[in-house]
Amino acid sequence: MAKKDIDWGNLAFGYSKTDYRYVSNYKNGAWDDGILTTDDQVTLSECACVFQYAQTCFEGLKAYTTEDGHIVTFRPDLNAERMQTSAARLEMPVFPKDRFIDAITQVVAANEDFVPPYGSGATLYIRPYMFGSDPIMGVKPANEYQFRVFCAPVGPYFKGGAKPITIRVTDFDRAAPNGTGHVKAGLNYAMSLHAIVDAHNQGFNENMYLDAATKTYVEETGGANFMFVTKDGTVVTPKSDSILPSITRRSLLYVAEHYLGLKVEERPIPLEEVYDMAECGLCGTAAVVSPVGKIVDHGKEILLPSGMNEMGPITKKLYDTLTGIQMGRIEAPEGWIHVIK
Ligand code: PLP
Ligand code: COI
Repeated sequence: MAKKDIDWGNLAFGYSKTDYRYVSNYKNGAWDDGILTTDDQVTLSECACVFQYAQTCFEGLKAYTTEDGHIVTFRPDLNAERMQTSAARLEMPVFPKDRFIDAITQVVAANEDFVPPYGSGATLYIRPYMFGSDPIMGVKPANEYQFRVFCAPVGPYFKGGAKPITIRVTDFDRAAPNGTGHVKAGLNYAMSLHAIVDAHNQGFNENMYLDAATKTYVEETGGANFMFVTKDGTVVTPKSDSILPSITRRSLLYVAEHYLGLKVEERPIPLEEVYDMAECGLCGTAAVVSPVGKIVDHGKEILLPSGMNEMGPITKKLYDTLTGIQMGRIEAPEGWIHVIK
């Protein structure tokens, strides 16, 4: 086995086809055994439920090459659990947790040559997803489903990697109270496409969504949760029933408290309070920890004291510790690292 001839250091966050993917079909009330296949194409009825009523959910996690040469994934059990929550909310059958982890393990092992080398700055992004696959005309859930996992080597989500980004507070809503914001439904992302295109057209990297009911509290961006550091060094993240429970954010809170000895708070954060924050970052599998340097709130600029050149000092410590755990430089809490080989 030899690594593929890829310019690892210059990869963007994007799709490229790797050799193998996993497919399992659900029919007559049961999942089949599932297979690895080289076929990257999906052929479905023109009336498949996913096309008509967006019955689909997905996950995202990464595989890393560690300092000592192992290939690992980070907390895949939490992705499996979150996908079960997403599936249940969308009236889809759940894919068993042990089979989810097995599917990920098989896909990464089969595509070993695509796992970026240690120190390259790239990682292997893994995308499990599920969709209603049989023809459905009246509004109701599908009877048949497909679960798939593919992967692709990727670089940083935001160009420039660790360079602080500029975001805006948007008037668009991402998720309603009692809606689907807390699950990883494709429809949440469809909702966000117009807002992100508009943000990019206006020169912003991302949108900060506020709670749809009162437009008072910070929710998240289209693809990451927020973390803030107050001027007295407390790490604060928004608590809301309509944001995705980010595995990265939950891990960062643990790291902040137990590895760095910082005070942490998970609570509603009024936008007003953001004007007084010392640091701000976006956290997620794709985003890792991406620093925010400027937030534009309807023409008013919030300039984070950490500036536009580098990560704030606490954000940097969190980033270094989390990625250190993921790449095997720092001992992980029990159960966080799933060794593939
Ligand atoms: N919020 C949204 C809307 C996302 O799409 C993601 C990405 O998965 C996150 C937050 C971060 O979640 P995680 O850290 O589990 O990747
Ligand atoms: C992830 O971080 O895995 C996501 O799904 C976010 C998406 C914006 C790529």
